[in-house]
Amino acid sequence: MALTAVKGFNDILPDESGRWQYIEQTARRIFERNGFGEIRVPVMEKTELFCRSIGDATDIVEKEMYTFTDKGENSVTLRPEGTAGVMRAFIEHKLYAQDPIAKLYYLGPMFRYERPQKGRYRQFHQIGAEITGVHDPLADAQVLNMLTAFFREIGLTEPALQINSLGCPECRPAYRTALQSFLEERMGQLCDDCKRRFVTNPLRTLDCKVPGCIEATVGAPSMLDYLCSGCNDHFSSVRRYLDLSSTPYSINSRMVRGLDYYTRTTFEMVTGMLGSQSAVAAGGRYDGLISQLGGPAIPGIGFAMGLERIALLLGSQEFVTLPDLFIATMGGADRDVAFCLMEGLLKSGVRVEMDYEGKSLKSQMRRADKLKARYCVVIGENEVSSGRAAVKRMADGLQTDTALTVAGIQLLVNNPQ
Ligand code: HAM
Repeated sequence: MALTAVKGFNDILPDESGRWQYIEQTARRIFERNGFGEIRVPVMEKTELFCRSIGDATDIVEKEMYTFTDKGENSVTLRPEGTAGVMRAFIEHKLYAQDPIAKLYYLGPMFRYERPQKGRYRQFHQIGAEITGVHDPLADAQVLNMLTAFFREIGLTEPALQINSLGCPECRPAYRTALQSFLEERMGQLCDDCKRRFVTNPLRTLDCKVPGCIEATVGAPSMLDYLCSGCNDHFSSVRRYLDLSSTPYSINSRMVRGLDYYTRTTFEMVTGMLGSQSAVAAGGRYDGLISQLGGPAIPGIGFAMGLERIALLLGSQEFVTLPDLFIATMGGADRDVAFCLMEGLLKSGVRVEMDYEGKSLKSQMRRADKLKARYCVVIGENEVSSGRAAVKRMADGLQTDTALTVAGIQLLVNNPQ
């Protein structure tokens, strides 16, 4: 049987990796401008970390983790998300002792055993950012503005920012009880999952895609009506800061998140272009997480974007880097001249290709076309002896007589007419 990749794990081929690099470079530029530094944490952690942070009663922990026992009989898990590991490192290395305000970003693969479909994979990639140590809603607004700036600068207008507040341990229990009494009367309409989650995680029913559950939750109480005064003030300030910076957003009071650590502000960047996988980025505040993991009582807020989903939204735009010049030869001693010229040009930063196999001139020209080289030059005896050649611009066939030197060719390809 042919060996193939594991289901839900994808190869990113060179045709596509240009688009990935563009996404990563745009994120790095914007995050670093906002004072974030990169943190790299392992892809595998002790299973307990995810149970204690994401929550035992979440879909992720209940059914989606790649968990196994290693040879030392330890239960380990391939990370299903980045926040837990980053906060574990923040605590373990006492980063808070230098400065409780840490601005960290990360990128890399995450793993969830979900049913693969367009925009949903078992290995996927996130670019995430987290700020610790700031209670002030200004941090919420900065994070949201940074996310908005990312989508603007990458050239996507589509995903729209939705925000909500999930309250805090003071006010959420009353909301939970109100939602449970509302759902209790509609229990017969709920799917088996939501019936099961009724006690452990009733808020998830608001997010369930099963038609019966969608219908049953019409008119359900809204968390926003149950916020305590602290959470209410916080949410108003976040909105005020967003308005001050003219950041477009809408409020979605039914937004609940699939991870238990959230408090107060939560948000998603939502698109209608990826079918049921509508969230391109998501995040929120997690003021209790760091202390819950054994660290000091320091708040945090952040988000993660799904790289595959952003790449899908960017569509078929070309991100491959094309050669500046293809050097064809007549096949004699001029190959040595061509080789030296190519090496000199490569050293000076010009992207050059040449024939490797001593093929016919016709087939070399076909290859120059196939590689979409911007310019092409043919080097034969005449060119070698005169030290000059006609360099052809492939787009329109314009030929320019050029000195056959690194400087001469560099001048031409770097200064298109
Ligand atoms: P999340 O909502 O679970 O949040 O994931 C964030 C993003 O990762 C999603 O919006 C989506 O774009 C992408 N994503 C999630 N699962 C998949 C999948 N199976 N295939 C492809 N893309 C996927 C978190 O992970 C939180 N750690 C975000 C956060 C950071 N909150 C605070 N800080």
